[in-house]
Amino acid sequence: MQKFNQNLVKITELLSDNEYHDGTSIGNQLKITRAAVWKTIKKLEGYGIDLKSVKGKGYLLENPLILLNAKKIKSQLIHKSVQLEVLEKIDSTNDYVKKYIPNNKSMKICIAEHMTKGKGRLHRKWHSPFGQNIYFSLLYPFQKDISELSGLSLVVSLATCHAIESVVKINQKLSVKWPNDVLVNKYKLAGTLIEAQSESNGFCQVIIGIGINVNMLTADKKEITQLWTSLAKVTGQYIDRNIMCASLINSLDEYLNNFTQHGLKYFIKEWEKRDCLIDHQISLLSNTHKFEGISKGINEQGHLLLKLNNKNVQAFSSGDTTLLK
Ligand code: BTN
Repeated sequence: MQKFNQNLVKITELLSDNEYHDGTSIGNQLKITRAAVWKTIKKLEGYGIDLKSVKGKGYLLENPLILLNAKKIKSQLIHKSVQLEVLEKIDSTNDYVKKYIPNNKSMKICIAEHMTKGKGRLHRKWHSPFGQNIYFSLLYPFQKDISELSGLSLVVSLATCHAIESVVKINQKLSVKWPNDVLVNKYKLAGTLIEAQSESNGFCQVIIGIGINVNMLTADKKEITQLWTSLAKVTGQYIDRNIMCASLINSLDEYLNNFTQHGLKYFIKEWEKRDCLIDHQISLLSNTHKFEGISKGINEQGHLLLKLNNKNVQAFSSGDTTLLK
């Protein structure tokens, strides 16, 4: 785990004005040594940040870069009591917040600039380059038995859509693909990975992991095998992730409260409006079995209803879906 080196934030702020800055002037302005400036510049380069360096002139950031800043995020939160930690680097934010389970009584959040072992659903890897996207995990104590959480992942996807649409103007409406992908026009924009652990008191702790592709414009085909997009790709704009993170926390706070009070039924209409599978021919991979049929939406537990080719409707509690036509 790597705590945030604040020199990274300060130097990127300084280098974001499209002007060259040399090591001495950066050091003087930030009141750090030239050696510390050099170390930080090397670190940014090591993370794959494009820095232009010209002898006698100094350094310049080629593309916009606003790093995560816990203070900025907190200043925009509706409920300030949230425990928020912003890290420079971590294996997986989900695994990090898991360590707080024994004592956690409120919302504990970890957001990282880079994950070295980002986890996706079904043991996939989640591509997590430094400084581009949002890698977010929330540890949430539910006063419910784990068996009552059916449908939670659907609600988290809806909260993610709401958070994004509250701060970014996108031409197409965001859609959801059961169980928990957020799409723009069939391209994946965000995904969620939920892990839950029962407690001895009959309640449970849930780790809600959310990855949103924000400013990523390119990725190696080996790194992401699905069709993907990002907010910068669909809007043509650079997005300040601090504003997006605050919106995500505010939105989750509201949606999870409603889920605790009213359950999934409160969200069924909202799900139907965003469901991109409904009445379409799809395939569903459940364990090692592949099923094909027409999606008929969800039931009260959030299970997918699939009208199989033999006309029987079967409910599935888990699986991976693909839109066929
Ligand atoms: C998926 O669609 O496969 C789920 C992706 C979940 C990725 C997020 S990023 C933050 C959190 N930490 C992880 O290691 N994974 C989740």
